[in-house]
Amino acid sequence: MTDTSRKILVTSALPYANGPIHLGHLVEYIQTDIWVRFQRARGHEVVYVCADDAHGTPIMLKARAEGIEPETLIERVREEHEADFAEFHIGFDHYHSTHSAENRELAGEIYRALRDAGHIATRTIDQAYDPEAGMFLPDRFVKGRCPKCGAEEQYGDSCEACGATYSPMELQEPVSAISGVTPESRESEHFFFRLADFEAFLREWTGSGRLQDAIRNKLEEWFEAGLSDWDISRDEPYFGFEIPEAPGKYFYVWLDAPIGYMASFRAWAREHGEDFDAWWRPDSDAELYHFIGKDIAYFHTLFWPAMLHGAGYRTPSAVFCHGFLTVNGAKMSKSRGTFIRARDYLDHLNPEALRYYLAAKLGAGVDDLDLNFDDFIQRVNSDLVGKVVNIASRCAGFITKRFDGQLAAELPRPDLHQAFVDEGEAIAAAYENREFAQAMRRIMALADQANQYIDEARPWVLAKEPGREAEVQAINTQGLDLFRILIIYLAPVLPKLANEAAAFLREDDLSWTARARPLTGGRIERFKPLMTRIEGSTVEGLLEASKASLGGGEAEASGATGDAEPDPAVDPIADTIDFDTFARVDLRVARIEVAEHVEGADKLLRLELNIGSERRQVFAGIKSAYAPEDLVGRHTVMVANLAPRKMRFGVSEGMVLAAGPGGEELWILSPDDGARPGMRIK
Ligand code: 2FM
Ligand code: ZN
Repeated sequence: MTDTSRKILVTSALPYANGPIHLGHLVEYIQTDIWVRFQRARGHEVVYVCADDAHGTPIMLKARAEGIEPETLIERVREEHEADFAEFHIGFDHYHSTHSAENRELAGEIYRALRDAGHIATRTIDQAYDPEAGMFLPDRFVKGRCPKCGAEEQYGDSCEACGATYSPMELQEPVSAISGVTPESRESEHFFFRLADFEAFLREWTGSGRLQDAIRNKLEEWFEAGLSDWDISRDEPYFGFEIPEAPGKYFYVWLDAPIGYMASFRAWAREHGEDFDAWWRPDSDAELYHFIGKDIAYFHTLFWPAMLHGAGYRTPSAVFCHGFLTVNGAKMSKSRGTFIRARDYLDHLNPEALRYYLAAKLGAGVDDLDLNFDDFIQRVNSDLVGKVVNIASRCAGFITKRFDGQLAAELPRPDLHQAFVDEGEAIAAAYENREFAQAMRRIMALADQANQYIDEARPWVLAKEPGREAEVQAINTQGLDLFRILIIYLAPVLPKLANEAAAFLREDDLSWTARARPLTGGRIERFKPLMTRIEGSTVEGLLEASKASLGGGEAEASGATGDAEPDPAVDPIADTIDFDTFARVDLRVARIEVAEHVEGADKLLRLELNIGSERRQVFAGIKSAYAPEDLVGRHTVMVANLAPRKMRFGVSEGMVLAAGPGGEELWILSPDDGARPGMRIK
C-alpha cells in the first residue's frame, strides 16, 4: 500500500431488465471492474455494487407481449445478466434489482424528504392517451408526421429530419405505437421535482473537480438553458413503485433507478453487518464514484446530486463518464453482425481478450472507442500471447526440465528487477486516473524489455555449454521474476490469467506492494499455456453467429447501457434493390454557391447548389456539424431527381448526401479533385 487505506464505493450504471448485455454495455462494466480491482490491489476497501433497472413502460409491455408477469421477466433477465457479468469477470460485491424492498423503502423515504422540504410541485398536464390500451403514452410510443417539416413516421418528441422538438399531440395524424389508434389528449396530475431549487448548490458541486471537462462544459450549457422541473410521476398502468400518498401514481423509472445504487449497497451492508449511514450520510469518510455513459450525464450530475442533497444524503465524489463503442468503425449493426451480445462473444472468444483490448483503448475522457477486429486480433496475439505469456513459456521449460522446478536463490540482474518495480508508480498513477491505455503501453514496454533481456542472455546457448547450469537457472529465474511483476500489473485487467499465473509460480499475493519481493528460491509448477492466439476465423464465426442470432432485424441501441427504447441512430444495411432501381437515382456533383442559416430552424442550413445546368435550393439538416462559411465553394454530392418537398422555410429541391450518426458527427460527401458541377455519379 502506498497511501493510506481508503473506503471506496463504486457503481456502474444499471442495465435495463428487458434485453441482453451487449458489447456496448461491457465497455463500462469492464472499465469499472478494472478500476475496482486496481484499488483493491492497492489495499483499499472497495465495495462495487450494481443492479438491474427493472421498472418502466418498455419492461411492462415486453412482459405483456410475452404473456408473463413483469416480475417473471425481470427475474429471468437478471439471471442472464448476472451470468454474463460473471463470465466477463465483473466482480460485483452485490448485484440487486430496483424492484426490491430496499429500493421501495429508500425511494419512498427520499421522495417524502424532498416533498416535505417543498421540492415537489404538482401540476395538471395534458398527455397523449391511448383509449384502446387504456394508458398514457410515453413520447416515443406516439408516431406521426412532423408538424414542422412534414416528415413521416416521426416519434412524439422530436423529428429526425428537421430536428424540431414538440409534444406528441402536436404530430400530424398521430398514432399509438401500442394499439395503432389515434391517441387523445387527456389531463392528468403529475409530480415534479423542482430542480431549480438546487441551482446554487449544483453550480458549486459541479464546479469542484468532480466532473470531466467535457461534462462540465455540457453542464454550463444546461445551466444557461435553465433548470426545469422534472416530471417524476407516471400514471397507472405502470411497472414501478406507487408514490406514497398518491394512489394510481408511480415513480418514473429514472427516479428510482439511481436510488437502486443505494438499495444494492443497503442489501450488501445488511449481509455484511456494515453501517449504511457511514457510507451515505454527509459526514461519511467513504468516497463514492459512479461510472456511466455520457448519454446519462444529466441524470447523474444534476438530478441525482440534487435529490441526494435535498434528502440529507452525501453526494458523489465524482462521476466518470465514458464514450460509446463502435465496432469496425461504425455504430453496432445487427445486419453486419457487429451488434454483439455478451453471450455470443463468450461462445466464441476469451473474455479476457476483450478486457485487454478495451483497456488498451480506454482513457479518462468521453471519446467514443472503436473495437476494430483486425486490430483486436493483432493486439491480443502480439501483446498478451507474443510478449507477456511468451516470457513464462520461454523460461519455465528450463526451470522445470533441468532444475526440477527449482528457482535460483538470487537474481543476476537486481537492477532490472528494481527498474520494473519502480515503473509500478507510474503505472499505478495511470490506473488511478483511468488512463488505462497509458498503463497498458507502459506494461508492454516492460514486457519488451523482459524479452530483450532473455534474447541477449541466450540461456538456450548457455544450456549447451558444460558448467554453466547456475547461469541458466539464474537467467530463467530472472525472466520469471519479471513475468511475475508484469502479472501483478496486469491483474486488474486479466484476473483469471493472473490467478493461473500465480498458481504456476506458487504465489498467492498479487497486491501492488508484493511486486517488490524478488521471485527467488522457491519452486514453480509445470507451465501450461495461459492464453492462446485468436484466429481470424473465430472472429468471423462470432460475426456470423451474431448476425444469425439477431436476425439482421431492426436497429437497436448501441449506447453505453442500451436504451429501453430503440435507438434510431444504429443503421442496419437496407434491403437489397436491383440495379435498375439504383440507376433511377440521379446523383450529381454540386458546388455549394450559397450557404446560410435559416431563421427559426434548429438543424437546417439553406444551400444553393450549382449542378452545371441549373441552380438548386436545398434545405440540409447539417447545421450541427457545419458553419455556413465552411461550406461555400465546396463540392459535394446531391440527389438531383428527388421530388421537390415543400418545407416551412421554402421548397427543397434535392438532397445533399452526408454520413454519420448526427450532431457534430456528420460529414457531407465530397468528390475527389477534378469533379465538376453537374457530373453524374455512376
Ligand atoms: O440508461 C440506462 O440504461 C439506465 N438503465 C441506466 C440507469 S443508471 C442508474 F441511474 F440507475
Ligand atoms: Zn421535421
